[in-house]
This record gives sequence, structure tokens and C-alpha cells, in this order.
Amino acid sequence: MHMCGIVGYVGAKDAQTVVVGGLRRLEYRGYDSAGIALVPSKGDLVSSKKAGKLANLEAQIEHSPLPAAHMGIGHTRWATHGAPNDANAHPPLAPQGKVAVVHNGIIENFLILREELENEGYEFLSETDSETVAFLLERQLATTSNLTEATRLVCERLEGAFTLVVASADHPDVVVGARRNSPLVVGLGDGENFLGSDVAAFIDHTKTAVELGQDQVVTVTADGIEVIGFDGLPAESTTYTVDWDVSAAEKGGYDWFMTKEIHEQPAAIAETLLGRQDASGRLQLDEMRLSDGELREVDKIIIVAAGTSFYAGMVAKYAIEHWTRIPCEVELASEFRYRDPILDRSTLIVTISQSGETMDTLMAIRYAKEQRSQVLSICNTNGSTIPRESDAVIYTHAGPEIAVASTKGFLSQVVACYLLALYLAQVKGVKYLDEIGQILEQLQDIPAGVQQILDNTQEMADLAEELVDSKAFIFLGRHVGYPVALEGALKLKELAYLHAEGFAAGELKHGPIAVIDQGTPVFVVVPPRARDQLQEKIVSNIQEVRARGAFTIVLVEEGDDSVLPFPDRVIRLPKVPTLLQPLVSAVPLQIFACELATRLGHDVDQPRNLAKSVTVE
Ligand code: F6R
Repeated sequence: MHMCGIVGYVGAKDAQTVVVGGLRRLEYRGYDSAGIALVPSKGDLVSSKKAGKLANLEAQIEHSPLPAAHMGIGHTRWATHGAPNDANAHPPLAPQGKVAVVHNGIIENFLILREELENEGYEFLSETDSETVAFLLERQLATTSNLTEATRLVCERLEGAFTLVVASADHPDVVVGARRNSPLVVGLGDGENFLGSDVAAFIDHTKTAVELGQDQVVTVTADGIEVIGFDGLPAESTTYTVDWDVSAAEKGGYDWFMTKEIHEQPAAIAETLLGRQDASGRLQLDEMRLSDGELREVDKIIIVAAGTSFYAGMVAKYAIEHWTRIPCEVELASEFRYRDPILDRSTLIVTISQSGETMDTLMAIRYAKEQRSQVLSICNTNGSTIPRESDAVIYTHAGPEIAVASTKGFLSQVVACYLLALYLAQVKGVKYLDEIGQILEQLQDIPAGVQQILDNTQEMADLAEELVDSKAFIFLGRHVGYPVALEGALKLKELAYLHAEGFAAGELKHGPIAVIDQGTPVFVVVPPRARDQLQEKIVSNIQEVRARGAFTIVLVEEGDDSVLPFPDRVIRLPKVPTLLQPLVSAVPLQIFACELATRLGHDVDQPRNLAKSVTVE
């Protein structure tokens, strides 16, 4: 999938050392399994792969060493298709053992291709879509001896997003790479050349890199590279010099993992949406394991989660009830089982957890299962405890989240919840296929909207500079903007260690407005104009706090000038439908918290007192 790490090498050095070293630098991209393949001499391809962190592979290689080679490929995996075990580790080999492939992405038509190969007698050893590519390539090489051309022809058959790097026993001096909607860069060395998912893969060896364009194939030898398009024609490529140092490399050049993960959000959303529709446009959630019949029986949904994931659930409640008309409650995992909730077979418990290890959430699942409810989990970590203990799972394909504060986790959780809501609407027949299709299209536009915000982070950095001495912050929202206000406040609390609180804007007058003082910064998320009632009400809420001396920062969609007379600062949001607004409005608040904490000298990635996976109750 998107986040796996890929390395390729051809040159005078020991390929195994270079490839494993590259994987070590890419390990942040995934650590479910790792593997390498080398071609020590013509006709001979060797490989080694192992589930778990790279250290497991290194131990295996030490125990059973591979012969020296000057060409190799490697992979560190973040599992999507298939469990994170040895069999599914990359590189998969083709049946004759002469072709190895490492793959990042999702081959959307892999079932069709796999069936085609099975009909010809091919036997698959893994559950991965990637093995299909290895088999296709071996079949192609039987008639096309040129490795580049064979790879290109295989790419023509593939749909979806992929980066491929291939090694062939009959081509000991060449590594071929290809990409579509998934990253691949070339590193240019002196008498050696590299491939990597990002430059961290080869930053120890060279800072000269070549960016590959969409739908391109690159042939890498020790002496040079050649780039062509999927159409077979020569293609342009641009060379640049990497200006990071080695320590920044694994953070992709960003100061913090959190910044990097904020910037990965367009990709995280796109990946979470990828491959969810069949050829006829029907939504399919293939990993899910609950039958349509079981889902039709559902008459109540309870979302259970903690922290940021809980806020994702709060957002989801609006969409679930609106689209499916199934009553939905949202409950903190740590509270759920202690209040003796009313559950039965027709209650669907939806848990949301980025890590898949949160103890409060896990205990809630066990409790719900004792009460005979069905549990569906939305999770970012393949093979973790929560999806293992659930009846059904929808994975968010956000890639590993390293920073303790959740960002891409949150947005991809909201997207996954929306997919679930639309799927339930489809199964229950309460929405037409074209209505579902329309919402899916609107979701497909969200990555571009998020990107628009990311292209101008300076605005939030300036605001952080301006408010660096503030000691307390208020966040207001209505409807789906309410959980966004809570999330904005949580980000600030955990990163800046400051008092920050989120409120439903209408609730303020019932008490909290008393805390507003001269200069108190108040962020207000304004609903899109399409919801005029909400929008008008929040305009009065802005005036209320302003009259009490608040410094107001208003997040409002482009083109809505009705609020302009009131705020001190205006942050523009791309125009999106009301229910999708959290997917864009949360982003400036994440950036603000990160920028403010950085200015206060805090460790943004590892805030005090916190841990990434909370495995205690
Ligand atoms: C906040 C944050 C936490 C987690 C919470 C649940 O930025 O990261 O509030 O959201 O601990 O964690 P998961 O989603 O792993 O269950």
C-alpha cells in the first residue's frame, strides 16, 4: 500500500548492505514485515523475508547468510491486503523463482488478474495483490526477454495505485521500477544507482535524485538510468539535489513526524477511499466480514472510541444518522461498559482506533461481545488486537502514524466511517446508488481541498507567532464543527500544554462564556453557507464573544463574506458539503497546534506525559 518502503540498488557496493541500510531508513513507513531479493549472478535469484520489524530479517540473514551481490531490491511492509505474516512479506517470487517484485500500493483489479492466472494453473502462496504482479511478470518474460518492456506491458494490465521494483535472475545488472499514483524516486550515484520510495532510502549514498513522473518506467543500471512512459515513449525527468541532512531524512525533510503526517493527509484520504467501488459503482468493503443480511438487521449503532478517535466518531454520528436513518450514539470507551448499556444482537458496535491497541476500547469490545453485539472496528493497524477481536473491520489506509498526536489518523477515520455509513445506506436501500456515488465523488475531491490548505501553512504559522503568549484558548463549532472544535482544543492541550477548550457554540451562553476575557483567542468553525440556519446562528455567536473582548479567528469557506465584519482573523476553507467540512476544517487547527508548540520549544512528536498506544485502562 501507499506507505510501504521500497529500495533498489545496482552498483559496486555490497547490495545486501545497501538495501538493508535503505530499509532501515524507511522503516518508519511500515514495520509489519521486511524482505530482500538479490541476484548474485546470472540465473540465480535469492531472497529472504520475515514478519515483524527489520531486526527480524537481519537476524534471519545473519543466521542464513545470502551470497554477495551487486544488485538487490528490498521492502518494508505496512500490511493492507493480507495479514502481516511471513507468507505475505515481500518480495513475492514467481513460481520458477526467477522473478521477484516489491510493491507499494493497491492493485484494484488483482482478483480478476489472479483468476486469469489460476485458470492457467498458477498457484498462489500468499494473499497479496503483489504476488499477482510477480506471476504476470514471469509469464510476460517468457515472450518478452527485455525486462523493461516486460514490466511496462505488465503495468498496462494493472489498475489502481502502485510502485513496483523488480529483479530478474536473467538480468543481473538491472533493476526496473515503475510508478502510478504511488511514490518512487531514483538516486544517482557514481558507478551506482538507487531506487527508493523516498530519498531517505539512499540519502547515505547520494543527494542527487530524479523525480519520476506519473505512469513511468525506469531502467536502472550501475552506469545510468533510462525513463520511459507506460506508452513506451522516452519520458522527461528532472534531477534535483536533496537539501536535507540524514537525520531529517526519515521525516521526509519535515521538522517533525507530525508535520509530515499532516502533509500526508491528502494521500491518507485518497488511500482510504481507494478500491472501494466495484465495476458497477457499488460500494464494496471487502475486508469487512459482516454479511449484508447481518447489516440489514442493525437497528442501533454505538460508536466507542477514545480521544481523537472519539471525536472522529462524534463527526460520524451526524453522517450515519443523516444517511442511514439508523439511530447512532457515541460513547467514550472508558465509560461505555460501566454504565450498563442496552445492547443486543441488532446493535452494531463500531469502535475506532488508530493503533488498534487502546485498552479502553478493547475492553469495550470484549464487553459488547459478551452482550452478543456485533463489533466492527475502524483501525489503521493491520493485525493489531482490536481488529483481531472484532467481527468486522474497515482499515484506514493512512500508513503508520508516528507522532503521538493523531492527525492523518483522524481524517482517515472520518472517511472510513463515512464509507461505512454509505455502505449501510446501500445495503438498507435507503439511498440510491447515484446519491451514494455523488457523495463518493465529493469525498474524492477532499484530498485536493486539504492540499489547498497545506499549500499555505504560513498563515497558521504567523497566527501561532502572534498568539505565542496566550495562556488559554477557546474553540467553537456547531453540528459537525462541534467535534472539530473539541479536536482543535485537544491538539493544543496535548502539544502546547495550554488550557484549551472546545464548545458547541450555542452552549457558550449557558455558562462558559464567562471565561472569555480581554484578548482570549477564540477559534470559530463556521458551517458552510448551504446550512444557512447554522451559519447565521454562529455569526451571532461570533458577535457575542467579540463583545466580551475575545480575539476571534474564524474558519470559513471561500466566498462566504457574511462573517467578514466580525472576526479579527479569517482562515479560508475550501468549499465542501457540510458533512464533509471536518475533513478540511480540522487541518488548520492541527497546523496551529503544531506551530505553537514548536515556538514554545516543546517536543511535538512526543509530548510530555503521553504515549502513542495507550495499553492501560
Ligand atoms: C490525540 C490522540 C489520542 C488518541 C487516543 C485513541 O491526538 O492521539 O487521543 O486518539 O488515545 O487512540 P487510538 O485511536 O489508537 O485508539
